[in-house]
Amino acid sequence: MARSWQESKKLFTDACQLIPGGVNSPVRAFKSVDGDPIFIKRALGSRLWDADNNEYIDYVGSWGPAIVGHAHSDVVKVISQAAANGISFGAPTSLESDLARAVMTHVPSIEMIRFVSSGTEACMSVLRVARAFTKRNRIIKFEGCYHGHSDMLLVKAGSGAATMGVPDSPGVPSGTASDTLTVAYNDLGAVAAMFERYPDEVAALIIEPIVGNSGFIRPVSGFLEGLRSLCTKFGTLLIFDEVMTGFRVGLGGVQKIYDICPDLTCLGKVIGGGMPLAAYGGRRDIMAIVAPSGPVYQAGTLSGNPVAVSCGLKTLELISQRNFFPDLVRKTSTLVEGLRASAKKHNLPFSADFEGGMFGFFFNDKPVTNFTQAKMSNTPMFKKFFWGMMQNGVYLAPSPFEAGFVSGAHGDLDIQNTLEIADRVMKGGLV
Ligand SMILES: Cc1ncc(COP(=O)(O)O)c(C=O)c1O
Repeated sequence: MARSWQESKKLFTDACQLIPGGVNSPVRAFKSVDGDPIFIKRALGSRLWDADNNEYIDYVGSWGPAIVGHAHSDVVKVISQAAANGISFGAPTSLESDLARAVMTHVPSIEMIRFVSSGTEACMSVLRVARAFTKRNRIIKFEGCYHGHSDMLLVKAGSGAATMGVPDSPGVPSGTASDTLTVAYNDLGAVAAMFERYPDEVAALIIEPIVGNSGFIRPVSGFLEGLRSLCTKFGTLLIFDEVMTGFRVGLGGVQKIYDICPDLTCLGKVIGGGMPLAAYGGRRDIMAIVAPSGPVYQAGTLSGNPVAVSCGLKTLELISQRNFFPDLVRKTSTLVEGLRASAKKHNLPFSADFEGGMFGFFFNDKPVTNFTQAKMSNTPMFKKFFWGMMQNGVYLAPSPFEAGFVSGAHGDLDIQNTLEIADRVMKGGLV
């Protein structure tokens, strides 16, 4: 029997009267899949229940943070204990140093760290620091990489290898955007050309070292290494935005997998375990200029909030257990291989990839290495697949340009069920 989403529709209609578009973050509105969002009532482990009591196997995982599964009992316990001790003090706690140490143990490029409340804040702040440190204004970012919604980062590339920044949203002053240079992902030649054009002007190059915000896109061989040497040559700081990939593709992030040492790193999502917590950090000489040890101002009423920090600490402890990542990789790999096999069997154009507990797929018969290629994927096919999966109880990101996430709570049976459903949905040909 077809699922009904009547209650969600009612709640959405109500929310639309109160909140722009009915949601507090645009992707939640399901616009990319021509539908209305489901409203969530509760979640446990790998499962979600919506307002109509439909159950789903969840591969969104709150867009990444839910790596140990929803409402993990150990996490819920520390959150309750922390809350009982006071929800927020606006004063330092030893928990913050504990979390700093836990992060640095796994990400050695981070010698000092500052906790903030969102990935947007982390990326915005790290660029202020980079500009102050280098005394330069321009930044390089990549087309299709998302670093939060601060003015200077809300810039897309025009067509061609590189353009001057054009604001992606009304309200972003063109002056702010004009210092943001955009280049196609995986195009080292275009980056080199940009450096040649502005040899002494680029403060920082910021990148999702594995992209999750154009779908899942991996760096081609030599790309990250090439960026590292160009940045060193031109005195530009290399910033890895690992808000999504940090503690998600593996404990040390992409930088560990590819053995590249960025100057600065942004983290978020998993380090807060689902609470509003993010961070930026890196070389001690750079971080030392952040206030109050240095002149670069950055602050936050709720930064290092004890409930959020406790949640992050417990999450990192759970994922540091010896079998956690091998098990996560095994499950994600089974999922991705199974999807590929079904697509092949049913003759669908399909490419898929994963790292750790993060995966993505495109209805595209060629490998996707940048945003332009990602946009050439078959969107109608994605929509059909998405709704077929929803009807059968599998919740995927409602956009072809987002990654998916597997958690420690996903059992082998969840993966098998998902693959059987995917095979049935693909069998119809998705036309
Ligand atoms: C790579 C990356 N950077 C930054 C952000 C912004 O983080 P937040 O949504 O916490 O502001 C995101 C959010 O998805 C992200 O994926």
